[in-house]
Amino acid sequence: MISKKLFEELNKQVTYEYFSSHLYLAMEAYCASLNLDGFANFFKVQVEEERAHAKMFFDYINRMNGDVIIEGLDKPDANFKNLHDVFKKGYEHEQFVTSRIYLLMDIASEEREHATISFLKWFVDEQVEEEESFFGIMKKLEMIGENVSALYSLDQELAQRVFVPPVLTQG
Ligand code: FEO
Repeated sequence: MISKKLFEELNKQVTYEYFSSHLYLAMEAYCASLNLDGFANFFKVQVEEERAHAKMFFDYINRMNGDVIIEGLDKPDANFKNLHDVFKKGYEHEQFVTSRIYLLMDIASEEREHATISFLKWFVDEQVEEEESFFGIMKKLEMIGENVSALYSLDQELAQRVFVPPVLTQG
């Protein structure tokens, strides 16, 4: 039995995940403005991933007979200083999302809401990948510095990223 408090927090997560897609859309636009098509592609895929995450929470609330409430989205901060700043802000945002997933897991655990604990485990694992991905590119950019050919190689690498729809273990 999911409590009102847990449903409210699950609903907030729908909005946070859509906000993530909104923020990464701003980052895609910034990379595209620099003609870094590979970096723009990285964020294009990230936008799709975040929309998929939002829909997973949306569908879970529905399956558990809760009411999904769609809220408005804040304007993302798009005042990026440079490419490194983009990934630093992305990494910090993912750390925030991790704290949100942990909060949800804490509430579900306190309430012994085992179905929700099981649902959230996918997101706990996903956040490890999300933070690793942003942190890794941020560190590569620090190594690259002003080396244009290395930046070009990384752009080529990120152009290969494709969206793979997430699969939940819960049927
Ligand atoms: Fe939905 Fe990037 O976490």
